[in-house]
Amino acid sequence: MNLDKEIQRRKTFAIISHPDAGKTTLTEKFLLFGGAIQTAGAVKQNKIRKTATSDFMEIEKQRGISVATSVMGFEYNGKRVNILDTPGHKDFAEDTYRTLTAVDSVILVIDCVKGVEEQTEKLMQVCRMRRTPVIIFINKMDREGRIPLELLDELEEKLQISVRPLTWPIGQGMNFKGVYNMYTRTLNLFEPDQTRITDNYIELQDIQSPELERWIPTSYVDQLREDVELVDGVYEPFSEEEYRTAQIAPVFFGSAINNFGIRELLETFLTIAPSPHEREAAQRMVRASEEQMSGFVFKIHANLDPNHRDRTAFFKICSGVFQRNKFYHHTRLGKKLRFANPTQFMAREKNLIEDAWPGDVIGLYDNGNLKIGDTLTEGEELQFRGIPSFSPEIFKEVINRDPFKSKQLEKGVRQLTEEGVAQLFIQHGNRRIIGTVGELQFDVIRFRLEHEYGAKCDFMPLRFYKALWITGEDQEQYEEFLKRKSSVIGLDKEDHPVFFAESEWMLNIARENYPGVTFHETSEFK
Ligand code: G4P
Repeated sequence: MNLDKEIQRRKTFAIISHPDAGKTTLTEKFLLFGGAIQTAGAVKQNKIRKTATSDFMEIEKQRGISVATSVMGFEYNGKRVNILDTPGHKDFAEDTYRTLTAVDSVILVIDCVKGVEEQTEKLMQVCRMRRTPVIIFINKMDREGRIPLELLDELEEKLQISVRPLTWPIGQGMNFKGVYNMYTRTLNLFEPDQTRITDNYIELQDIQSPELERWIPTSYVDQLREDVELVDGVYEPFSEEEYRTAQIAPVFFGSAINNFGIRELLETFLTIAPSPHEREAAQRMVRASEEQMSGFVFKIHANLDPNHRDRTAFFKICSGVFQRNKFYHHTRLGKKLRFANPTQFMAREKNLIEDAWPGDVIGLYDNGNLKIGDTLTEGEELQFRGIPSFSPEIFKEVINRDPFKSKQLEKGVRQLTEEGVAQLFIQHGNRRIIGTVGELQFDVIRFRLEHEYGAKCDFMPLRFYKALWITGEDQEQYEEFLKRKSSVIGLDKEDHPVFFAESEWMLNIARENYPGVTFHETSEFK
């Protein structure tokens, strides 16, 4: 059947990394392989530079470009590849977490000099929570980094996942000679070249073959044989099943900037990575191959054109075929909606589409009906799960600076937080607390409130450390907690009570004193 065929050929994934490990460079090389771009440098401009903290033009430009580049689709060897871009900047981590809810797998890029960095651990935590299959790419092998075995140990320890190398580097740094593909038993020799896509494969039936010495110096051959024997002995044989159930992460080595080890990565990825399969809704599991269309919104871009209050909702199709101009059921509002101009993203272009398949992400023009997490179906009352909010790390109270513009401020804050720029909590009916992952968000909010809504505000820092969603197993204790702690309790966008812990210590005390109250790290706990 057509639907099954289309599902099987789709691979929807995200490339994630600590900033500077090489995510942008790798994305670009994939697009080059896919013929989606012709020259290197095209994706680069999409990046927020580290210096951009207060450069609003940069942020605005980024928003403009990122609508077109947030999803990059291309065809490769009969497969439809959808790369969902995630902002590398740490302050946009919340956006990255949400994007991870819409992918079927992930490629994690590690810098071989730096190893596992802080941001990597956090991203991996989200993948673990969602049991997302992960492939690890160890980048920058042309630099003098840490030795491969040591890196693998660190990955296992810090990322809490078993690893299995599928390629193995021959030499490193100045002496990086190539990679040996342990999956296909082929050798790929290194020729530094940042522009061409070079292929220099040598088929080897046996790693003991004396032919090897024709290609690489004897000392490297000995080392390679020793390493491969060791790796085969130490690590379990690779199992696709274990990878797909997120128990094992295959590891590749290479150098993105030099285009090296990338084809091995891409081709193996396309062979083993999962296609869309099923997704959990509050009511039941929904299989991708079901005839009836269903999907959810995971991201919203608003007000890109200041003259129109337009919004683009990013919609991930989970089952069935999405069709232009067909009426769909908006399950939260109980409303029928149809979309005359759904768009699909092919590399840097946005195209109008007639239909889209499970795994695809399309842009829906919206005038205020759609929120992050909303589900569309053909009539069934479904609500997709797995789009939780995580605790923000910085909390500030919104102070209105222009009493004549309080309506605009309220609207702006509501819309921007709906868009997912930050989280909004309401305390005592009218105190607005904004929570973010980074300081940059406050600059973005202040700037956009002023330019898009004509409202002015200040932010007063609050000394909260974490927001935790609370529920009560013991109703009496729960109510007492809400009453006693009212100064540190607010309501989230769904009007659910949230406890603002001032420190880990205060949180532990609360846990001890109120065993009948449960403190949840994310907003999805039912
Ligand atoms: P990110 O998206 O993860 O933040 O990283 P990005 O691809 O922008 O790469 C960060 C830096 O690392 C860039 O250098 C990039 O050229 C370099 N890089 C990427 N892959 C490799 C590699 O395989 N080997 C080496 N040696 N370097 C690599 P930059 O100086 O920050 O930027 P640019 O001036 O090159 O644009």
